[in-house]
Amino acid sequence: MTSADIVRSIATEQETPVGESQLFSPARYAGTRAPIEEAEPLPPDVYFSQEWYDREVETIFRKCWLLATREEEIPNSGDYVRLDIVGEPLVIVRDEEGKVRALSASCRHRGSELMSGQGNYKKIVCPYHAWTYSLEGELLAAPSMKEAMGFDKSDHSLPSVRAETWGGFVFVNFDHDSVSLLESLGGLVDRLASYRLEEMKVTKKWENRFNANWKIWVENSREGYHVPTVHRGSLDTFYPGSRRTVFQADGEPMVYAINSSDNENGLYVPRNHTLPFVEGLSAQDNESTHFIIGYPHLLLNVPPDRITFHQYFPEGPEWTRIVSWCCFPQSTIDLPEFETEVEDKYYPSMDMFLAEDKGVCELVHRGIRGQLAKLSRYSPTEERTVHEFSNYVLDRVLGPVNGQ
Ligand code: FES
Ligand SMILES: [Fe+2]
Repeated sequence: MTSADIVRSIATEQETPVGESQLFSPARYAGTRAPIEEAEPLPPDVYFSQEWYDREVETIFRKCWLLATREEEIPNSGDYVRLDIVGEPLVIVRDEEGKVRALSASCRHRGSELMSGQGNYKKIVCPYHAWTYSLEGELLAAPSMKEAMGFDKSDHSLPSVRAETWGGFVFVNFDHDSVSLLESLGGLVDRLASYRLEEMKVTKKWENRFNANWKIWVENSREGYHVPTVHRGSLDTFYPGSRRTVFQADGEPMVYAINSSDNENGLYVPRNHTLPFVEGLSAQDNESTHFIIGYPHLLLNVPPDRITFHQYFPEGPEWTRIVSWCCFPQSTIDLPEFETEVEDKYYPSMDMFLAEDKGVCELVHRGIRGQLAKLSRYSPTEERTVHEFSNYVLDRVLGPVNGQ
């Protein structure tokens, strides 16, 4: 019996519905822990189980830096955006001093949601009984509370989570003990410095809610195996002649680079593009598109002319809200041909790619729902990155193997 047979027999014994103790038993995942040449995907129930999902929220989403918004969405003091991240109502606001803060959007009185959407306030006033907070989250006024014994307004500020910025992006982190954002980004900061991401401006932002577990989306974003089949339509329409794309790790962990525009592999810069590339990029960057996976929920694509990115926000085990963004340098936006170029050549291909991925991710979610779903093996050449992601999830939900 090979080691692969052994790990598979362990997993097979436990394919019937399992209780919580088995669900979190490391032995159950030995098949996924095996080297890629022998490994098998995660069992289907980790894509549906509420218990597993709750553990992911606690060990992944409430521990990592998560992309919230772009700084130019809140340029002035008092500007805010309301976001729900893994069920937590937050308001991202620029305070009096110009600092970006992430505050709880739950009133300290009886919990009403404090604001919605996006806008500008000088003070945060609860719509229910008018308790009023500063942009820093301090409780300034609480009507009719004089008789409340021992009530001290300074004890009732809005809770906050960490908010830090890089390259014009605003990230938040529920974990007050986490490393800084810049430390978590590692070499990515230097690598992308010449793109001057902080000078780019949002030109399009749109949102979709899809019936698929968030991990299915990340897995799909991590491999090029599906590109020739799933994206045949958009490739033929927008990138005729392209054949396939293998995602190769490129220096930094989580960075995958492909050629941007050659006929064999390119799929990101329109062949007949007329919008300029960012000035000052290296010769290699001028020919590359970086696909960057910021675990757990960010896919950032950096071709030479713009950035596009997608935030995968889980909403329970079975739904994912995806917010997609496109940003260009201001000098490009100022060009007279900008509007027609992006409408003709850039946005339609993004819409089509997303629709193609949505379709197949929902197919997978529906396909693995039943008890007969039995997932077999990974392609060692094409799905090394998916295997790595599955082990990332296991490392956090169950703890690393051998305490490493
Ligand atoms: S719930 Fe906000 S003031 Fe009462
Ligand atoms: Fe895709």
